[in-house]
Amino acid sequence: MRNFTTVDDIGDLHNAVKQALEVKQNRFAYQNLGRNRTLLMIFFNSSLRTRLSTQKAAMNLGMNTIVLDVNQGAWKLETERGVIMDGDKPEHLLEAIPVMGCYCDVIGVRAFAGFTSKDDDYSEKIINQFIKYSGRPVFSMEAATRHPLQSFADLITIEEYKTVQRPKVVLTWAPHPKALPQAVPNSFAEWMNRTDYEFVIANPEGYDLAPQFVGNAKVYHNQDEALRGADFVYAKNWSAYQDPNYGKVISTDRNWTITTEKMALTNNAYFMHCLPVRRNMIVSDDVIESERSLVIPEAANREISAQVVLMRILQSL
Ligand code: CP
Repeated sequence: MRNFTTVDDIGDLHNAVKQALEVKQNRFAYQNLGRNRTLLMIFFNSSLRTRLSTQKAAMNLGMNTIVLDVNQGAWKLETERGVIMDGDKPEHLLEAIPVMGCYCDVIGVRAFAGFTSKDDDYSEKIINQFIKYSGRPVFSMEAATRHPLQSFADLITIEEYKTVQRPKVVLTWAPHPKALPQAVPNSFAEWMNRTDYEFVIANPEGYDLAPQFVGNAKVYHNQDEALRGADFVYAKNWSAYQDPNYGKVISTDRNWTITTEKMALTNNAYFMHCLPVRRNMIVSDDVIESERSLVIPEAANREISAQVVLMRILQSL
């Protein structure tokens, strides 16, 4: 595997989960794989879990890591070609990317949707430039439309906790005061659609995800109906995808917050969220603190998903 930006890059999901569970049993068994290899992690946006778990995964493999927060200490980057650079951005991404490639063997990139152009976001303009111009394998640490390391960790977690072969998994929108990207729900849907689970999506009218991510999932605009019989409830906020509201908050309806009453509609479901989460907007204190909350195991599995991805990339060098 050279690059990792979508579920397509990981291949068969049974094999990927099997490898992840083996790695989890002995995460230090491959310490020579990354010896004298350098991972450069580039953050255009903030992170806690991705930053720490990916560094830890690289360390497990014996890699060196360099972390660059583009907006803290680096030159401000121009990303548009053809711009007369007489403003406050002294460096162009088209030079910065190949320069970054000189100092590493593998590049991880976090670059969220900008919400200024749906076309730019959905064509993955930033991460695709890294793939094109860096000369290095590139993996997504959350791009404009997908967060595959998170989805892989979520899949590992569901496989660890499921008690039936074909669990019902519900992805539900929940309220949030600010506009968030669609990357996590898009990606979660993309991965769930590759499983044999019963997968459904619940969101208010106007919040349907892009059809290529919804796939064959049934979409409910009534959350209670969707939650009935659920084995896993994956809550997440996202901003509107559909025009003319792309990237906007069009509802903060707290009737969609996941509460104990909402969880009572389910089949004693596990609660999932990628974190960070706004308590009592997305989920009540009681639910996130309950024994059925998987938010910490999901975060722990981020180390494992990153390690599998790095191993596969290193093996391709
Ligand atoms: N879930 C996740 O990606 O967390 P961070 O934004 O903190 O990396």
